[in-house]
Amino acid sequence: MTGRVLIAYTSRSGSTAEIAQAIGRELEALGKSVAVAGMKDITSLEGYGAAVLGSPVYMARIEKEVAAFVARHRDRLLVIPVAAFAVGIAPVDPRVGSVGDVLEKLRAALYPVKPAAVTMFAGRLDLVRMSFTERMMTGLMKLLTGDFRDWDAIRDWARGLPAVLSL
Ligand SMILES: Cc1cc2nc3c(=O)[nH]c(=O)nc-3n(C[C@H](O)[C@H](O)[C@H](O)COP(=O)(O)O)c2cc1C
Repeated sequence: MTGRVLIAYTSRSGSTAEIAQAIGRELEALGKSVAVAGMKDITSLEGYGAAVLGSPVYMARIEKEVAAFVARHRDRLLVIPVAAFAVGIAPVDPRVGSVGDVLEKLRAALYPVKPAAVTMFAGRLDLVRMSFTERMMTGLMKLLTGDFRDWDAIRDWARGLPAVLSL
């Protein structure tokens, strides 16, 4: 498949956006043509030969924006290779639920699009960037705070994408 790769993300506090940008930089370093954009800002998938979708997990859920994006661009997403990643603290704090469960929910959010690969990366919980409610929930859920993003793991996954997406 030829054409540009679209990396479409949704992000409340910016950590998923930064992961999307890191994946984009890695693919560019491999000579691929890449666009990184927020799902809300994407009006057409014309010209894209593959897509990578990213969403954070809040309260054990993939953001609703993912299913909305898939519904809007379903026809195109059904004919190009798609990979997806979730971001959250489950990889470093299993009290919030299992990574397997998140990946199942990610696949469900993408349906009827069948991703060639899905993964979950550890994210960042930064009290300063949260809304009042999120800060309260973080306290109530006794969530771990900090930046747990593993940039080596993120870059490794990105480097595997050309094979997975036939780029
Ligand atoms: C209120 C709240 C609830 C969260 N719930 C979950 C959760 O259920 N599972 C999980 O893995 N991570 C959870 N997280 C962690 C976020 O997914 C993580 O902070 C992520 O990096 C945020 O992405 P963003 O910066 O792109 O918005 C939660 C974070 C907050 C603030």
